[in-house]
Amino acid sequence: MSITPAKVGIIGCGTISAAYLKNSKQFTAFDVVAVADTRLEAAKARADEFDVPKALGVEEILADPEVELIINLTPHRVHGKVGLAVLEAGKHVYNEKPLAVMRDDARALIDTAARKGLRVGGAPDTFFGGAWQTARKVIDDGLIGDPVGAFINLHARATPRPRPQDDGYLSFYLTDFLEYGGGWAFDRGPYYLNATINLIGPIRRVTGSARATWKEREHGGQLRQVNAPSHVAGLLDFADGAVAQFLMTADVYGTGLPHIEIYGSTGSLRCIDPNNFGGQLYLRKADSPELVPVENQFGYNGNSRGVGVADMVTAIRCGRPHRASGEMAYHVVDTITAIHEASAENRHITLQSTCQRPAPLPLGLADWTIDD
Ligand SMILES: NC(=O)c1ccc[n+]([C@@H]2O[C@H](COP(=O)([O-])OP(=O)(O)OC[C@H]3O[C@@H](n4cnc5c(N)ncnc54)[C@H](O)[C@@H]3O)[C@@H](O)[C@H]2O)c1
Repeated sequence: MSITPAKVGIIGCGTISAAYLKNSKQFTAFDVVAVADTRLEAAKARADEFDVPKALGVEEILADPEVELIINLTPHRVHGKVGLAVLEAGKHVYNEKPLAVMRDDARALIDTAARKGLRVGGAPDTFFGGAWQTARKVIDDGLIGDPVGAFINLHARATPRPRPQDDGYLSFYLTDFLEYGGGWAFDRGPYYLNATINLIGPIRRVTGSARATWKEREHGGQLRQVNAPSHVAGLLDFADGAVAQFLMTADVYGTGLPHIEIYGSTGSLRCIDPNNFGGQLYLRKADSPELVPVENQFGYNGNSRGVGVADMVTAIRCGRPHRASGEMAYHVVDTITAIHEASAENRHITLQSTCQRPAPLPLGLADWTIDD
């Protein structure tokens, strides 16, 4: 089905806006017609670079009747506030991850959208990638049997490096709870949870333990106090019964362990780093001693950031659910928050949130073309 491209705006013209703007030229589903930032010069620079018709202040883009949906690319700490302003202005919103730092702010986005008949979407959209759609098909086709468990391993870097002294990038996420936006777990955890929920569904309850290995870390040439757990080990019970361990650490040397493995009753599936869309999957069946490469028959194997937006605007036009849903993004924030709470409170926590598994993409779908 052919649709008129949706008119989309961007708030937040920093680093990642370049990837969205570059990819937006390829998608048939939407056009970026306006960009905005509290730093108007940043919005003007991006508009010039990517030939966007309008560079606006934040209030101006919110009031612009041409803009139907806004992609919120602001820093973590204002995701909730900016997202809410977009909804209050009567527009759909797609937030970069995490949906919001604080669970209540994330909930307010979902509730406000429901009240106003609008939609919320949430990155990351790497689970649209060929590797993840292939993994989904392997599981849905029963090639590993019933999911038993998963191993989810979010570590900071693949290569060994001394800590904490030369670690300015990570320290940014750990030294101030709001500034870093909830910490390493909230920044990178959503990639891992979106990927796993896409494969084996939502999570029912969690527990976990969290620590900060160093009380201070260097950032910007200064030692700053660490205000967030930087080594968090969670246990997840999925609604369908699988049990997973989820390590989120900024404190260990590169482990060499896989990023995500899904274990089933008749086989195991080794997945890729969920920061990526494409890559090689491996399957080990009960009767095979070796890991066997799995053929990938899906599109979206390069950096396709923005495919979640393309799917969302198409879903709005077609009246179907969008895949990178606000419900899933909220479930992810709820899960990570609850792991921290479980550690602090010595208990398991049954989650109040849940979500649908996103619908799988069609086999062989060409890149940049989500049309129905
Ligand atoms: N940088 C990356 O590689 C990357 C990758 C994936 C996702 N993300 C996500 O994208 C988001 C943005 O990341 P970034 O690296 O581009 O950040 P950035 O700091 O480079 O850019 C953020 C921009 O938002 C603007 N801004 C701040 N507060 C604002 C407000 N209240 N209203 C309007 N504009 C405001 C800033 O002026 C800045 O231009 C984050 O949520 C991050 O998690 C970043």
